Amino acid sequence: MATKILVTGGTGYIGSHTTVELQQAGYEVVIVDNLSNSNIKVLDGIQAITGIRPAFEEVDCTDKPALKAVFEKYPGIKAIINFAASKAVGESVQKPLLYYRNNLDTLINLLELMPEFGVEGFVFSSSCTVYGQPEVLPVTEDTPRQTATSPYGNTKKICEDIITDAVHADAPYKAILLRYFNPIGAHPSAKIGELPLGVPQNLIPFVTQTAAGIREQLSVFGDDYNTPDGSCIRDYINVVDLAKAHVVAVERMLSGKSLENVEVFNVGTGRGLSVLEIVETFQKVTGVKLNYKIVGRREGDIEQVWADPTKANQVLGWKAEASVEETLLSAWRWQESLAK
Ligand code: NAD
Ligand code: WQD
Repeated sequence: MATKILVTGGTGYIGSHTTVELQQAGYEVVIVDNLSNSNIKVLDGIQAITGIRPAFEEVDCTDKPALKAVFEKYPGIKAIINFAASKAVGESVQKPLLYYRNNLDTLINLLELMPEFGVEGFVFSSSCTVYGQPEVLPVTEDTPRQTATSPYGNTKKICEDIITDAVHADAPYKAILLRYFNPIGAHPSAKIGELPLGVPQNLIPFVTQTAAGIREQLSVFGDDYNTPDGSCIRDYINVVDLAKAHVVAVERMLSGKSLENVEVFNVGTGRGLSVLEIVETFQKVTGVKLNYKIVGRREGDIEQVWADPTKANQVLGWKAEASVEETLLSAWRWQESLAK
């Protein structure tokens, strides 16, 4: 019988790609999502790729009785991957309590239910945002976390601490915290991808929407940073590569390979790229000219950050494989597919 995995937020951007990779690795996936930031049609995309429609429950993870009913309906869930969270940095500054309520209640409900239902492993979606602007680059997992610059970022720090405290208090499960850098791109089939609501806040969806003519112009936020071309530097990680890291993390916990009960891994490529390099590469691989303009800095932006992924490479046995060229092309193919 296939091992059953609960994927919260599984119709979202990273959750849908992870569901595909889990199914292709032979796992049975149960998705829980309240569809607050995703569309039920994503299930069609997943099914078109893998041939399997995952079980789906429209449930809000902050509703503990409803969540409990999911564990009762699907007995034998072995691991949870918790993507469900609110994730817009700017909105979190406007509505901090919504972010604390959603992200913390979701986590606590899941952790409380795990022992009751014998769930053995928990993967948490953390973020490089916990490092703030590091003094030394690239960042390792031992780089100190900094005071969060947004309520969203703070929920990631607090959730990491809650999981660590729960596990250290002899919780009968293992946990892996994955600190994602900047996830971008789409499945190469162009059947699933990122679906931002409204005006995209992140770089790549803004780039693809500008290229598609949905947005008039891309604003490049600043060219006066202390970087080689003056624009900010990030570690852009292909979403399918990122999804595969979750599969490896689940396998590690369920096969008893974890060296510690809570393990932390950076999930990045190890390569920093500037905004202008992204713009150039996008134009080169797609042949589409981007209308862009250098404007002032965006408040709160980190100047530069990229990962040292050595620990994930060596301990987890995971490595980013896709080139930035193929990743940007996948984002464009996905954007084009939305117009069809
Ligand atoms: P997403 O918004 O596409 O996916 C999150 C999903 O969770 C959505 O489908 C949403 O409807 C669902 N959801 C939210 N609150 C819920 C609740 N209370 N109950 C049930 N479902 C709920 O976001 P994503 O980009 O796929 O991110 C997934 C996770 O990874 C999030 O925890 C996010 O904070 C984290 N993360 C994302 C990035 C990024 O840049 N995309 C970077 C680092 C970490
Ligand atoms: C990337 C670069 C912008 C838009 C955010 C969250 C972080 C994590 C990932 C979840 C920056 C520049 C952007 C635009 C631009 N999420 N940019 N024009 O800010 O690195 O990280 O998403 O955990 O927590 O803060 O990602 O895609 O917004 O920006 O020039 O229209 O692109 O200044 O340098 P960011 P991003």
